[in-house]
Amino acid sequence: MVGVTGSVAAYKAVELVRRLKDQEADVRVIMTSASLNFITPLSLELACGAKKQKPLTGLWEEPLAHVDLAAWAELFIIAPATANTIGKLANGIADDLLSACFLAWHGKTLIAPAMNPGMYTHEAFRKNLESLRSLGVTEIPPEAGTLACGAEGIGRMAGIETIMEAAKRAFTPRDMEGQSVLVTAGPTREPLDPVRFISNRSSGKMGFALAGAAALRGAAVTLVTGPTSLMPPSGVGKIIRVETARQMLESVLKEASSSRILIMAAAPADFTPESSASKKIEKSGGYDLKLKATRDILLEVSMLPRRPFTVGFAAETGQFFDRAKEKLRKKDLDMIIFNDVTMAGAGFDCDTNQVSIFGRDGGHEDVPVMEKEDLAHLILDRVLASAAQ
Ligand SMILES: Cc1cc2nc3c(=O)[nH]c(=O)nc-3n(C[C@H](O)[C@H](O)[C@H](O)COP(=O)(O)O)c2cc1C
Repeated sequence: MVGVTGSVAAYKAVELVRRLKDQEADVRVIMTSASLNFITPLSLELACGAKKQKPLTGLWEEPLAHVDLAAWAELFIIAPATANTIGKLANGIADDLLSACFLAWHGKTLIAPAMNPGMYTHEAFRKNLESLRSLGVTEIPPEAGTLACGAEGIGRMAGIETIMEAAKRAFTPRDMEGQSVLVTAGPTREPLDPVRFISNRSSGKMGFALAGAAALRGAAVTLVTGPTSLMPPSGVGKIIRVETARQMLESVLKEASSSRILIMAAAPADFTPESSASKKIEKSGGYDLKLKATRDILLEVSMLPRRPFTVGFAAETGQFFDRAKEKLRKKDLDMIIFNDVTMAGAGFDCDTNQVSIFGRDGGHEDVPVMEKEDLAHLILDRVLASAAQ
């Protein structure tokens, strides 16, 4: 259920509904009569997509809608939430469909207040907000900045991305609270000279998905990442940006002993130039490139006196399961995620992946192609189950 109330920010609810539909949520919209001054029901109806669910705007429009919706919904998001509606909800007033629904509903509610800074900081409003919080309602706090009314201060509705994150959190179990998780992501760059480097096709998406998923589940996450163009995943406490495999190794060794779980989803270079020129190498004829092997991060982690539960990744160009199993054994890993990067929908720089998960016990699980975000949660499920044994 999405509740829309009479704020200047009401138009933003269209984008929210569209994003929820993108996530395949079934959305019903309830509009207060004040919200109709800011946005038409048609805009929200169209945002609901092909099914074009008409928003409900009154108590008497569909008798018992407040009870039926409350029984049907899995989450109630009120965005924007006015001071007036928040006041009504805090005091059990049920004089319109939205507030009656709230009383009939006993599930998770998220409210995204939007109002003038004077209203947001008023003692009367603060009391109502506090009282709603004590009823288990989660506030998605507004942002500071310039508001539509021209005022400066706190009161602009939280961004749609933030609201979507809160919605995801509402459905995600906090089963990693108290766990410290170290994740590596992305490629490394091995410099030839100040302008050139050797790198690989890793985008960092799998590692970022794992870090974001662990944070969503309540873990304290440190992400060590090579150069990527990705936005930092929300909720990740510490991000260490590195360039070379050597820097990645040093950061991992520094962080690993204070981590409960290490997931090495990065693709650090296996080779680095024997030497790196301090000035740009001139283009004159050919150039002999001599490479040496980099230090093996997983192998060095396995030698730590207090090593975390360690998960490695094996990116292969073929179904070389034996190589993955050998890596698991040689580097004393607890789990290895094998992926064949030549397969459609798997590997570098795509949003999906297809993997096989090998455990210490020799057993393995073939996982079908899925979004990296979903796969991240599945891997964490397996890590938690295996680490608990
Ligand atoms: C132009 C205009 C903009 C308004 N913007 C807001 C707002 O952003 N936040 C808010 O709490 N109230 C705002 N109000 C006041 C609410 O619309 C008013 O309190 C109304 O009763 C809210 O009804 P509802 O909570 O049932 O939607 C605004 C009023 C007007 C006329």
